[in-house]
Amino acid sequence: MRYFLVANWKMNGSQSFARDWLKRLGRHSDDNRHIIVCPPATILGNPEIATLAEQQGIGLGGQDCHAASDGAFTGWVSAPMLAELGVSAVIVGHSERREFAQESDSDVAAKAAAAHQAGLLAIVCVGESLAQRQAGAAEATVEAQLRASLSTSSNTSNTLVAYEPIWAIGTGQVAQPADVAAMHAHLAQVCADMGLARMPLLYGGSVKPGNAGDLLALEHVSGALVGGAALQADSFAAIVDATPAGEG
Ligand code: PGA
Repeated sequence: MRYFLVANWKMNGSQSFARDWLKRLGRHSDDNRHIIVCPPATILGNPEIATLAEQQGIGLGGQDCHAASDGAFTGWVSAPMLAELGVSAVIVGHSERREFAQESDSDVAAKAAAAHQAGLLAIVCVGESLAQRQAGAAEATVEAQLRASLSTSSNTSNTLVAYEPIWAIGTGQVAQPADVAAMHAHLAQVCADMGLARMPLLYGGSVKPGNAGDLLALEHVSGALVGGAALQADSFAAIVDATPAGEG
């Protein structure tokens, strides 16, 4: 199996941090373990960083894109603009954008479509709140989100789905492997029903070196989306190294 290890720096980092991080992580990326780093757009815009990422075999991703390719949208960045920088992927529908920018599932699907149109891999995030989990509605909630957040252009080569329970993001409260296994089995079935069998399904939410091995060994888990622990190169390297080796 090919694993995807995605680092989401959120609004953190600097040009020098990016240089050091890429040099540190380069030797951890190989054919089975594909590293994608999603720093702020200002770092993506530095051609020196793009060259270094390419030399290190590390993909660059945006943290969001607008659904339109251009227009009067102050402050936004479009998918073709990311592609022009040599970026190969973009996160869409992260829970922080769903919460702080009120993005709906249909907004996320439109962004995924824009990403595909620009030739980018769309990393589509879904996840339930603690209240939804406690109400026993986690699987139904995430299934509905997933069905509505994928675009008609989504296929298993241009999309990664990241299951990120909102209550586990940035809290240190990681989901239990049994719960992740159950959710991923359900999402794998939903994707198969949609004609998207073998869709890569990532887990995100307080992934750390100490829990990554157990999570990444689960069936239907094809990688991790990492926030906090990605801000320390050594921690992210340890997470990459915890990925099962070889063909799975
Ligand atoms: P975390 O963030 O690893 O800090 O929980 C994950 C994410 O927001 O993608």
